[in-house]
Amino acid sequence: MTNATAAKYPQKVNTMNILILNGSPRKQGITSQMLAIMQTEAEKRGDKVETVTTNTLKIKPCIGCKVCRTKGKCVLGEDDSQRVLQMMQNADAIIIGAPCYWGNIPGQMKVLFDRIVYGLMRDTPRFPEPLMKGKKCILVSASTTPWPFNILFNQSHGAIRALREICHYSGFKIIKTLERGNTANITELTEKDKQKCKKAIAKLV
Ligand SMILES: Cc1cc2nc3c(=O)[nH]c(=O)nc-3n(C[C@H](O)[C@H](O)[C@H](O)COP(=O)(O)O)c2cc1C
Repeated sequence: MTNATAAKYPQKVNTMNILILNGSPRKQGITSQMLAIMQTEAEKRGDKVETVTTNTLKIKPCIGCKVCRTKGKCVLGEDDSQRVLQMMQNADAIIIGAPCYWGNIPGQMKVLFDRIVYGLMRDTPRFPEPLMKGKKCILVSASTTPWPFNILFNQSHGAIRALREICHYSGFKIIKTLERGNTANITELTEKDKQKCKKAIAKLV
């Protein structure tokens, strides 16, 4: 970390391992742009950042047998889901970017979270036990529906709501959510959007 960066982040003592999960298949899309700014900002201050694009993962869909809940292992065998779960376990913080698809997160990202449920929370006779406690999280979404309707009508907000559900029961501490509406009218983020992304990283200490 440079002296200037250290001055900007006086609370920051250690280098963080950050995992970015990008649910957008569009490399130049709005979600990818937001995540790329966050990655650059985190790397500038010395954090180690890895990005996984969920659409590139080879993952079979969950068959709902719930064997993993008791055995701690999925009956479908090895695929990319276990690798991503391990990356989440090794990370200090995760940033999840999910464009709004039908007021929700994209299907392949949902398939990932379904397949690794046993590594995120454990069933107990009373309340589910979160297995990612102590890790911080930032949530990002984008939708064509403009503000404030992206929020009011659960468009980008629907994707964020779905991610909140997963993060809450997994034990992640959500420190910031970012929602960009009206994406049909922009190809690039505005300076204000970029600043919001950088500020979100500044909260990750
Ligand atoms: C399959 C699909 C479903 C979508 N559903 C919605 C929706 O319900 N509401 C909405 O506002 N935008 C919807 N969109 C538009 C995307 O949210 C929007 O284009 C967003 O900017 C995509 O993110 P990206 O630019 O990061 O790829 C949908 C797009 C696709 C491809």
